[in-house]
Amino acid sequence: MKILAINSSPRKNRVSYTEMVMNLTIKGLREGGAEVDVVHLRDKKVKDCIGCFSCWTKTPGVCSLKDDMSKEIYPKWVAADLVIYATPLYHFLMTASMKRVIERTLPVATPTVAAQDGKSYHPLRHEHPSLMFISVAGFPDMWVFNELSNYGKNTFGDTYAGEIFMVSPTATQYPIFKDKTAEIFEAIIQGGRELAESKKITPETMESIHQLIGPQELVSSMFNLLSSSCIAEGVIPYEMDKKGIIPRARDIEEFLVFMQTKFEPDAFKEAKTLQFSFTGEHNGSCHLTIKDRKVTVGMGDAESPDFSLESPFDLWMDVMTKKADGVEMIKGGKCTLKGDESEFIDIMEKVFNWKKAIISQIQPEGLV
Ligand SMILES: Cc1cc2nc3c(=O)[nH]c(=O)nc-3n(C[C@H](O)[C@H](O)[C@H](O)COP(=O)(O)O)c2cc1C
Repeated sequence: MKILAINSSPRKNRVSYTEMVMNLTIKGLREGGAEVDVVHLRDKKVKDCIGCFSCWTKTPGVCSLKDDMSKEIYPKWVAADLVIYATPLYHFLMTASMKRVIERTLPVATPTVAAQDGKSYHPLRHEHPSLMFISVAGFPDMWVFNELSNYGKNTFGDTYAGEIFMVSPTATQYPIFKDKTAEIFEAIIQGGRELAESKKITPETMESIHQLIGPQELVSSMFNLLSSSCIAEGVIPYEMDKKGIIPRARDIEEFLVFMQTKFEPDAFKEAKTLQFSFTGEHNGSCHLTIKDRKVTVGMGDAESPDFSLESPFDLWMDVMTKKADGVEMIKGGKCTLKGDESEFIDIMEKVFNWKKAIISQIQPEGLV
């Protein structure tokens, strides 16, 4: 089985989520024995179709334009058994560069107009490969892929091999979702194995792939927190990750969102409850209970917390974002802690794990 995977994410340096999902699929394809060739459109020059119809009339089957499409991509496209169109979702469809490639596959069709079941079509010059979409989107709900999915089904008909979609992929980096992320990643790899075998993905595997990583509200809140932190720091999201800037909560609710998503389920053997009481502009308390690899949160006081920290809100956000030293603040009396001090510090380091550069987790080495 020969596969051509075309990636249209403009993002480089291992920061593209489309590429991440494509690479997981390729892992499965290769495990299933398929031969996979990858083309990154960001490195190619593909001109717009000029609508001359030379490929239909003067030079049947041959495009009049000379570029990477006619010289490299189209010959590979024709020779493949399956072509994967991997595209970030842009304005609810594919990127312009991917659409440009699809338009340039016109030479495969003949100019004749035929009809079947009341629908006109151009008979093909020769068989074309099965086609599928891989796509990734920012919003945390699956409906965003409706247009792309309909496009695939309507345009490619019986040759549409399936689709692999993922929403809010940034959530794959949050420790709290690591079990679900692993499950979805495995389903994507399985999808690749199935494609290698039969050029189709079973409905069960597709369902496992198309799960939400986390609750929409929590994912959106974390996204909003990341965006506001980028704006405050004057950086783009990639720089935020690269520079290790930690999102800064603007109020107690956001602090709880941050605490939840950074929660590391495997760091705890015993149940623990942490309470935070804040003073200053944002005053009030909140708590987190960590139990059986799960975290629950609430506003207000906990019944019997193992640790209770009192601090001005802004000061604790300085600590959380590494602008102030938490140990010094506690030892110097600027924050008051009830509970075992060294255990509390250990928990904060283990769970909130903020030292790790997030970017390194996006694309595990050696996937492709
Ligand atoms: C121009 C543009 C348009 C976008 N349109 C949508 C959209 O319609 N729906 C959506 O959920 N996300 C949208 N997004 C978010 C991207 O799909 C998301 O950032 C994705 O992770 C990008 O994939 P990449 O990391 O492979 O480049 C858009 C992003 C850009 C830059």
